[in-house]
Amino acid sequence: MILGIETSCDETAAALVTQDGEIVSNVVASQAELHARFGGVVPEVASRRHLELITPVIREAVGTHEIDAVAVTSRPGLIGALLVGLSAAKALAWARGVPLHAVNHLHGHVASLYLQPLDLEPPFTCLLASGGHTMLLDVADRTGYRVLGTTLDDAAGEAFDKGARLLGLGYPGGREIDALAKQGDPAAYRFPVARVPGLDFSFSGLKTALLYAVRDLPPDELAARRPDLAASYQRAIVRALVGRLEATGADRIAVVGGVAANSELRAALPDAALAPLALCTDNAAMIASAARYTEAVPYPDYLSLDARATA
Ligand code: KG4
Ligand code: ZN
Repeated sequence: MILGIETSCDETAAALVTQDGEIVSNVVASQAELHARFGGVVPEVASRRHLELITPVIREAVGTHEIDAVAVTSRPGLIGALLVGLSAAKALAWARGVPLHAVNHLHGHVASLYLQPLDLEPPFTCLLASGGHTMLLDVADRTGYRVLGTTLDDAAGEAFDKGARLLGLGYPGGREIDALAKQGDPAAYRFPVARVPGLDFSFSGLKTALLYAVRDLPPDELAARRPDLAASYQRAIVRALVGRLEATGADRIAVVGGVAANSELRAALPDAALAPLALCTDNAAMIASAARYTEAVPYPDYLSLDARATA
């Protein structure tokens, strides 16, 4: 039984996963409401909230179970937020005399596909689209991945969040745009899909295009046009992501990360392996899952492990 701990951004999460990838418990305390009034995650506010939540969240996830190992996100993420999870993980592993796995958050997202009942077997080409990252990955085995392409500026989730802000919607913006887009016409506006060489992505031009469209509207018309703007904007992001996946020519495709929860993206990829909805956004089950394919750091070496902001 592996205890996973995840505190890289604004979710405080803990989960129990078996060696076979069965989820025994999966607790996620989202701080989204706390950050909503700032329109985005405030790192210091996140760290303090993680400190308050980490013990009750771990306690709820563990219950009365015995644990054989602790897995924790050690990179990439907000450094103060990561340190809360890493410190808790070290203390627990030490107190219980079990090894520690330091997990890369991005490997965690990919490993959401290795949990039961999906249990996806590599090789496949994976789109990882979240608030912090947008990458195309070549996954040859479960121990890692090779990066084929990445975003040159904003991540896809960041594009959703910034777009939602321009439209006066709440945070996090992906879910809000997804919902509003259902009432709009995706062909109402022709937003650009950036032409970037190779397999990289770019979303900053799209964001600017939305800014201009919103700015050019008389204030009283914005409310009426909002669903069309949301639908057209979402269409442009989905076209960019699907276009890149098609450009790889891969026949086995998987999608993970917060943006994998997007209903239009899911519908556009009927043959792809999609992370289950509950495992798209940040959670600790995927971290424990990745730990099954990551070498354990023995006691006492893990006491000197550091968190890192970058992957
Ligand atoms: O994977 P995640 O929870 O955190 C990071 O590792 O960044 O992803 C969060 C991102 C946010 O940008 C959020 O707006 C986006 O995922 N997201 C969505 C949807 N649900 C969450 N984007 C589009 N459509 C959704 N339904
Ligand atoms: Zn994430």
